Amino acid sequence: MTHVLVLHGPNLNLLGTREPHVYGNVTLDKINEMMRQQAEELGIELRFVQSNHEGELVDAIQEAADWADGIIINPAAYTHTSVALRDAIAAVGLPAVEVHLSNIASREEFRTRSLTAAVCVGQIAGFGAYSYVLAVRAIDYCLRRGTNDDTP
Ligand code: DQA
Repeated sequence: MTHVLVLHGPNLNLLGTREPHVYGNVTLDKINEMMRQQAEELGIELRFVQSNHEGELVDAIQEAADWADGIIINPAAYTHTSVALRDAIAAVGLPAVEVHLSNIASREEFRTRSLTAAVCVGQIAGFGAYSYVLAVRAIDYCLRRGTNDDTP
């Protein structure tokens, strides 16, 4: 069984009511359920962590080195500010997929820069809650790439 850490950063616990014109009206619980369904089909077990605290997110990434095969992360606002999260992802060396509900490239200037994207395999952004389903497929692909079964 493949194990993947799903990390949700600050304010994502408010999804459903938080700026629905930007982030949609799907709750975090529902997103986790959508991801779990997709993961089940692919034989992946997901473990979910949401935190509003940078250090807790760093701890979760460090701990993932002991049990996870990969990471899916929406660092939320920390995407644009956190050298600590970037360094943690680089340090553990697990393949990571960065995910965003909104298309950060098309928003305010300060959101267009991601400090974490460069240490991830790739980034999925702009598809609302469905970004997360795509992220499960992406991490599955990353983990199978280089094996005999690496068709998308
Ligand atoms: C976000 C985009 C970030 O700029 C913002 O701070 C978030 C959510 C997204 O998923 O679109 O909290 O990561």
